Amino acid sequence: MNITIVGTGYVGLVTGTTLAELGNSVYCVDIDEKKVEGLKSGIVPIYEPNLEEMFLRNIQAQRLFFTTNLKEALDKSEVIYLALPTPPGEDGSADLSYVLKVANDIGEMITEYKVIVNKSTVPVGTADKVKEVILSKTHIPFDVVSNPEFLREGFAVEDSMNPARVVVGSSSDKAKEVMSKIYQPFTNTGVPIIFMDEKSSELTKYASNSFLAVKITFMNEIANYCEKVGADVDKVRLGMGSDDRIGNRFLFPGIGYGGSCFPKDVKALIKSGKDDKFHFQILEATENVNAAQKIILISEIEKYFGGNIKGKTIAVWGLAFKANTDDIREASSLDNIKILLEKGANVIAYDVVAENNVKKLIGNTIQYAKSMYEALENADALFIATEWPEFKNPNFDLMAKKMNNKVIFDGRNMYPLEIPEQNGFFYKSIGRKTILN
Ligand code: UDX
Repeated sequence: MNITIVGTGYVGLVTGTTLAELGNSVYCVDIDEKKVEGLKSGIVPIYEPNLEEMFLRNIQAQRLFFTTNLKEALDKSEVIYLALPTPPGEDGSADLSYVLKVANDIGEMITEYKVIVNKSTVPVGTADKVKEVILSKTHIPFDVVSNPEFLREGFAVEDSMNPARVVVGSSSDKAKEVMSKIYQPFTNTGVPIIFMDEKSSELTKYASNSFLAVKITFMNEIANYCEKVGADVDKVRLGMGSDDRIGNRFLFPGIGYGGSCFPKDVKALIKSGKDDKFHFQILEATENVNAAQKIILISEIEKYFGGNIKGKTIAVWGLAFKANTDDIREASSLDNIKILLEKGANVIAYDVVAENNVKKLIGNTIQYAKSMYEALENADALFIATEWPEFKNPNFDLMAKKMNNKVIFDGRNMYPLEIPEQNGFFYKSIGRKTILN
């Protein structure tokens, strides 16, 4: 099938590459000429494991093309995916101006039946709005479909090639047939395709992400309570997670959720609710608990240093909002660094791939180390903000040699308690007892 993808951001690029990998001819359109030039010459602008390989393979096979010319791409394609940004406005609502502008252009340009597929995360009712805008511009028949994306950063290729399910919101049999054909390689291998109306599909995306945000946050509260009563959250997690009604995933406590999806989607759903005079009490509580959770270790750090961290050097391991990505949007590391600096501490940070993104944001207000051990040179304490695999099994002897104090504040529960204990470290993690040195 011939497919256009409008928008070569994260979702657009991954979706386009995946659809090309499934054998379609894919035309990716973006207004950013420089970006398109780069993509054409084989440069992938985001870090995502295994994406580059698949991307280059499909360019070489002449199934993946890039252009700034929307009209040219539309004329070649039966299906048009919209993968456009929907940034949150001041009040948390999703800004649909990019989506509606492209809908307008599509209305002006199409000359035969098209299926327009909304991949962006958009509020309930957006498919109808897109339909309205296109209808105001053309008499050519078309259908608008909602087909939300559920991929995780760091696992984008894996998730898009092996989805848990495909959700398609459409009230048109013709469009459903087209979507079934596109996703046949998945359904053939047993992946369910779930058809529903457009609004339910749009809400499915928000409900899924918000539910996971609630699940994590619930576990964070349980972890905080574990500390109060002397229980161990690792044990509680195992005990709970082995009930398959609960499931053992997304139960890992830490310094809160971040990233480009959960915070934005929780906020947007609360805002949509408000617009519809509906109060999402659980989601409001989730937002508040998460905001506090992100910086929960700050008071512990202060306590350790007798209430004053002025002039202390804190090494930060990890800047990305989670491992396997260079994305720092809503990263807990940033909230903590901001407060540490405000309180007069010096910060020296190390991340596997996210350093440049942080530099762009906060420049040289902190120091950057080239390795995890370099960051520890004369540090008074280590703060772990991201669960990068290379932090999992460190050389504690070397750490002790480099640091002024053997002190770890671990926001990602990286180590079984006996490990820092055996190595003589003070170790404060989340929801478990504190190891004193
Ligand atoms: C998420 C959804 O998983 C994905 O389906 C959706 O399409 C986009 O949003 P992503 O933001 O890439 O994906 O990250 P995810 O792996 O889900 O983690 C989100 C946040 O939750 C991270 O900050 C992570 O550290 C945190 N988290 C996750 C926990 O604190 N504990 C957990 O047990 C799991």
